[in-house]
Amino acid sequence: MTGTVRQHTGAEGVDGGVGLTALLVAAARAIETHRHDSLARDVYAEHFVRAAPASAHWPVDLTQVPDGDANPLWGRFARYFGLRTRVLDDFLLRSAHEGGARQVVLFGAGLDARAFRLDWPPGCVVYEIDREGVLAFKHQVLGALSATPRAARVPIPIDLRADWAGALTDAGFDPAAPSVWLAEGLLFYLPRTAETYLIDMVDRMSAPGSALAYEVKLERDLRAYRDSPLYVATRRQIGIDLLTLFDDEPRPDSAGALANKGWSTSVRTPFDFTHHHGRGPLPEQRNDALEGNRWVFANKSRPR
Ligand SMILES: C[S@@+](CC[C@H](N)C(=O)[O-])C[C@H]1O[C@@H](n2cnc3c(N)ncnc32)[C@H](O)[C@@H]1O
Repeated sequence: MTGTVRQHTGAEGVDGGVGLTALLVAAARAIETHRHDSLARDVYAEHFVRAAPASAHWPVDLTQVPDGDANPLWGRFARYFGLRTRVLDDFLLRSAHEGGARQVVLFGAGLDARAFRLDWPPGCVVYEIDREGVLAFKHQVLGALSATPRAARVPIPIDLRADWAGALTDAGFDPAAPSVWLAEGLLFYLPRTAETYLIDMVDRMSAPGSALAYEVKLERDLRAYRDSPLYVATRRQIGIDLLTLFDDEPRPDSAGALANKGWSTSVRTPFDFTHHHGRGPLPEQRNDALEGNRWVFANKSRPR
């Protein structure tokens, strides 16, 4: 994999390319936080948005959006990220408190402040893997706020097309102890070889009792959604063309690969959770860019 990595130094921060998507999700979490019916609270999110020149003028509260909830980006798309945050918060906390995982690995962590926000059990370590520039920006903003993590926090600045598994082990990760892994809003940006490697290494480094959640898009050709309200609004309002950032290779069947390795998997639509919580994004009849999004939850069982 090192051959590929040489072309990708990973030094870029949040001001452009895929790093900018971390700010998009942070803005969505800020907006969610201020909603009267919020699904998740992240008091750090708006500080990231305000600190980066690229996003300093973006809204952090729906009252700053003239068309409010009707805005496809700051209404529906932001709500999607809010719901995703809540569902994955619940999954991680359940895996730690009930499943016994004390090692939490966040792939493509971006501006995820879970190490600071969530109520982790004693002895938890949160490993945050992302590119160097993104983690440096995060460090700077959280440092200025004197934010205190609620678990041991270990940032691992590395490109996920490189040997992240070696870096994680060097940082103290113990493959013999149960862990919980998360790839939220990430896999569709990675080449398929990097996704296959990630799933394979998660399996190899997971003791029985470990858990993994990740997000995928099922569609073969995402360009069909180029004119969808979500992607048009994201392009026009904040200049992010998600379709140019997504990897365009056919995706591997990661849920199938995990099942073959003995993991139990459950593939859910976001809308399942909208119904469960009684709020969140609903499906749209035409050209819905969220149509193929799936959240996959996997568990590696303990021997009987
Ligand atoms: C949409 S953001 C999601 C961030 C975070 N998981 C969240 O949901 O708030 C995607 C993140 O993946 C990171 N990312 C994308 N490709 C990467 C790569 N090859 N290596 C490391 N990180 C990567 C980006 O830097 C960015 O922070």
